[in-house]
Amino acid sequence: MNIILLGPPGAGKGTQAQRLQRERGMVQLSTGDMLRAAIREGTPVGVQVKAVLDAGELVSDDIMVALIGERLDQPDTANGVIFDGFPRTRAQAEALDRLLAERGTRLDRVIELDVEEEALVERIVGRFACAQCGEGYHDRFKLPKAEGRCDECGHDRFTRRPDDNAATVRTRLAEYRAKTAPILPYYEARGLVSRTDGMAPMDEVYAATFAILAQA
Ligand code: AP5
Ligand code: ZN
Repeated sequence: MNIILLGPPGAGKGTQAQRLQRERGMVQLSTGDMLRAAIREGTPVGVQVKAVLDAGELVSDDIMVALIGERLDQPDTANGVIFDGFPRTRAQAEALDRLLAERGTRLDRVIELDVEEEALVERIVGRFACAQCGEGYHDRFKLPKAEGRCDECGHDRFTRRPDDNAATVRTRLAEYRAKTAPILPYYEARGLVSRTDGMAPMDEVYAATFAILAQA
């Protein structure tokens, strides 16, 4: 099954995709994580996109479509993936349909995480992640159960993203409004969109998301 989690920065796409991967064996394909890994490793793409991510702007469609195409050629994606952070423009949405069709598959559902914009800045600015396994946390909404130790792997170091500051978040939200939100009608016209209340507690969002997938 191929699904898209769609929503603005901080909506909870990564939180839900990580849990679906861990508990349901689905494959999370996060373009943000892929780009950050490329930057860390200093690949040619990483060098090219670093300033764009730091500014909170969107990376070009050509780069993104090429990255996704390569990723979909890896065998672990053959039974379907959760797209987290892709597509983000109409051109990416159209390219994704093509890439899936070329591989004999298609999109099954788009789940929109509906959230109030005022909540997003707080969510993003308070976010941190385990430096070893990447598990996501929040200063207020999700602290590690044992102080200073990751719930999943026990590691004691955490990181914060350089683009998680209030000024960059504003740019990321503006990019979402201008370029990503307008792709919803593309999917609505095909009856593919389900909405969930992304303002609900994480466990409730997970239950609602899972219920949608069970019917897809
Ligand atoms: P990306 O990494 O995709 O960032 P984003 O879309 O800005 O999304 P976030 O990771 O900020 O939010 P999320 O929805 O995953 O929220 P999370 O679950 O962490 O992209 C980064 C950059 O890469 C972009 O700016 C762009 O430059 C580039 N890029 C990536 N893909 C691209 C593409 N396709 N095209 C072009 N450029 C691209 O949750 C946030 C926090 O809230 C967490 O701390 C979490 O614990 C907490 N939280 C989650 N759910 C809840 C809840 N229900 N209640 C309370 N707290 C919650
Ligand atoms: Zn960890």
